[in-house]
Amino acid sequence: MIEPLLKAEHLFKSFHKNDTKLEILKDVSMEINRNESICIMGSSGAGKSTLLQILGTLDTADQGELKFEGQSLQNLNDEELSLFRAEKLGFIFQFHHLLNEFNVLENVLMPFWIRGLDPDITYAKALLEQVGLSNRIDHFPTQLSGGECQRVALARALVKKPALILADEPTGNLDSQNGSLIQQLLFDLQKESSAALVVVTHDENMARRFSKKMKLVDGHWAR
Ligand SMILES: Nc1ncnc2c1ncn2[C@@H]1O[C@H](COP(=O)(O)OP(=O)(O)O)[C@@H](O)[C@H]1O
Ligand SMILES: [Mg+2]
Repeated sequence: MIEPLLKAEHLFKSFHKNDTKLEILKDVSMEINRNESICIMGSSGAGKSTLLQILGTLDTADQGELKFEGQSLQNLNDEELSLFRAEKLGFIFQFHHLLNEFNVLENVLMPFWIRGLDPDITYAKALLEQVGLSNRIDHFPTQLSGGECQRVALARALVKKPALILADEPTGNLDSQNGSLIQQLLFDLQKESSAALVVVTHDENMARRFSKKMKLVDGHWAR
């Protein structure tokens, strides 16, 4: 049997605010397979970002387990987890989080430098060409529009050929034209790399294109 790329089993997560306990995830399980695109929907505050952060090992669940290719991530220490993220995961957030003191190409090469690897400049340039920014590689983030910055963030997330792309409302800050462009690029790049794609979105238009749609309601998957 082929193991799912990422499997989350019985995740629970709550936050404490003053004296009240906010139960955000109440027994959430899911499987993410290679080549699959999954859309996570749900109203604001439903726990979508919390779940995505847990799936990406940026946050931990109170209970439950994550397995990557059948191996539990439970016993990895912080250093091992950050190596795991650097090798296997590509993150795209609502805000691009580019580094303003580095130019476009340098931002895209950052994932290699962080791991002390030789940067694949050819591939980085090819990705920047694909997102329509080959003439902007020596510009700085402050010289680009929000949509352009998000395209750089896309190239940065994809440059290390992640097995899993996690995107939290990647078009949330963009006008509809730039939003559609980011969407299209996200699907194109996912197909080319055979990665799995998990996207949190409010956008019904975008949601239609995914192989699987899931909705969080009251800490569970809606039926
Ligand atoms: N670190 C935190 N401390 C306290 N409450 C939090 C924290 N993170 C998220 N929450 C709360 O958990 C709920 C779910 O948040 P979130 O996952 O960001 O929702 P969504 O992304 O679906 O809008 C919200 O009510 C939010 O206020
Ligand atoms: Mg959110």
